[in-house]
Amino acid sequence: MKSVSVSAPGKFVVLGEHAVVYGKPAIALAMDMRFSMRAHPSNEFRINGAPANQYNMSPHMKYLSEMHGNRPMTVFIDGRVPSGSGLGSSAALSAAYAAAVRALNHLPTDKASLAKDAFEAEYAAQGRGSPMDTSASVQGGGIALNVPYKKEDFLWHIDKGDRSWDISKIDVPKMTFVIGNTGIRAPTGPLVEKVRKYKDTNTFARSIVDEIGDVTLEGLKAIESNDKVKLGELMTYGHKLLSILGVSCPQLNKLVKASQPYSYGAKLTGSGGGGCMIALTDKPEKVAEAITLHGGTPYIVNTGVPGVTVKV
Ligand code: MEV
Repeated sequence: MKSVSVSAPGKFVVLGEHAVVYGKPAIALAMDMRFSMRAHPSNEFRINGAPANQYNMSPHMKYLSEMHGNRPMTVFIDGRVPSGSGLGSSAALSAAYAAAVRALNHLPTDKASLAKDAFEAEYAAQGRGSPMDTSASVQGGGIALNVPYKKEDFLWHIDKGDRSWDISKIDVPKMTFVIGNTGIRAPTGPLVEKVRKYKDTNTFARSIVDEIGDVTLEGLKAIESNDKVKLGELMTYGHKLLSILGVSCPQLNKLVKASQPYSYGAKLTGSGGGGCMIALTDKPEKVAEAITLHGGTPYIVNTGVPGVTVKV
């Protein structure tokens, strides 16, 4: 095979982050910001014209190459999802790179195989996370984890140690979300670890994790019945629960509050500690203006986008 072009979308979490790490329900949507790259086999690993090294080859890429024979390739990265902001940048990279490595090694590039490879790479690089980000990126559209689903919506099942996740696709009505980026970089691993420690030592924290799971199930019903008012209320409540777990920050709270007058609801999205918040709204320009006024960077995003694409 001469060369392959691959791409995979970023995502945002509507409800259920952190609790999903412990097998609770969660809902994530893919969005129109993509990681994209071209790759072809070569004599040594090269990335964007330079020899690969620890700075330009992420641990995810290294892991995925080693997983499938470590055949050197030359890679050109054409587009990225903003990193360290809870928008699934490393998951999109892992999903796309898994597809490139598999395609160049003549291995199947079905979505279930890609979702498993990408999750293993994220897990190796990041520690104790869930397969939510990688599955959302591979699948595209909308996914739910650990919720009741119709047989035809089942996508794949992923296990890790004593934890397991059933991943299913969901139909999402047309909704507008505005993302507000605080500009504060906050890698996922340490935040997942912070919540784990809190949950392992505190009964109250465990009850918050359970409550996030229950709120997510209600949120799924609201999505299925296109009830934006209810979904918005649940999102705002979800933000409070995540704040109690210690993963919000003053800048996230400020952007959530600023968005509220023009939205159905707003919350931090992803791992928190900085990164991004989301607002569900019919007035995206107003929300974007409020986010800018309060020091954030807004993105009005479209959902309903394809997952991994592979062109040989
Ligand atoms: C990160 O987008 C979401 C977390 O729940 C971590 C994970 O699920 O791996 C915080």
